[in-house]
Amino acid sequence: MNFSCQHIGIIMDGNGRWAERRDKNRSFGHEAGAQKVREITQLCSRFGIRYLTLYAFSTENWKRPSLEVSFLMQLMTKYLKNELPLLIENNIRFETIGDLNPFSSALKKQIQLTKETTAHHTGLTQVLALNYGAHDEMIRAINRLREYDITPTAEQIENHLDTAPFGKIDMIIRTGGDIRLSNFLLWQAAYAELFFTSTLWPDFSADEFMGILENFELRERRYGGLNG
Ligand code: IPE
Ligand code: IPE
Ligand code: MG
Repeated sequence: MNFSCQHIGIIMDGNGRWAERRDKNRSFGHEAGAQKVREITQLCSRFGIRYLTLYAFSTENWKRPSLEVSFLMQLMTKYLKNELPLLIENNIRFETIGDLNPFSSALKKQIQLTKETTAHHTGLTQVLALNYGAHDEMIRAINRLREYDITPTAEQIENHLDTAPFGKIDMIIRTGGDIRLSNFLLWQAAYAELFFTSTLWPDFSADEFMGILENFELRERRYGGLNG
């Protein structure tokens, strides 16, 4: 399979509702969501996609009950530990966007270890958006420009966003039925193709994903110009 899409962003929404519909607590949904991350990452790797940016924890998600937040933190640490063999096996590089400062030192250490171990991999780059918010990203970029006294052109702003090393985003998929971006890649979304599905993230299937990738091929990207 060959797709022209280089960089996919996914807002992985609907874990909580998926669990609630099964009379389970929300953590059960987050576990299922982590398993889905595994599956979709492997598919992207097989399809030759270059970058997969996954919205895992937003700057606003700290507002959730502290039990849910701490469960998510533990899940991320566990996920990274379990994931390493798969990343190695599939030549996948691991990266993050977002401000990692508020995380525990155990989680930060695991993130760092995963990055270092996979830094030389040349296949897919899986980018987890962790404590990521587009507004926070923009503020940090502007502050860096000020610090180095750089004139804020569009190019310079882009070069100082967290996503700078990963190139332009081609498409953003949001599962879970809501039609909004929830502070995900707002600058980068300017000309991204957007896909919204009511499927809850743990139910998102390889078939539906392939359907979206095929649909992307049919879209005409004009960037404000005219066709042909
Ligand atoms: C997305 O699923 C995962 C995170 C935000 C961590 P939710 O937890 O938002 O699930 P819903 O939207 O409540 O169903
Ligand atoms: C977006 O989902 C954030 C992630 C998927 C990590 P939310 O569930 O936090 O978004 P809202 O609150 O519905 O906008
Ligand atoms: Mg949600």
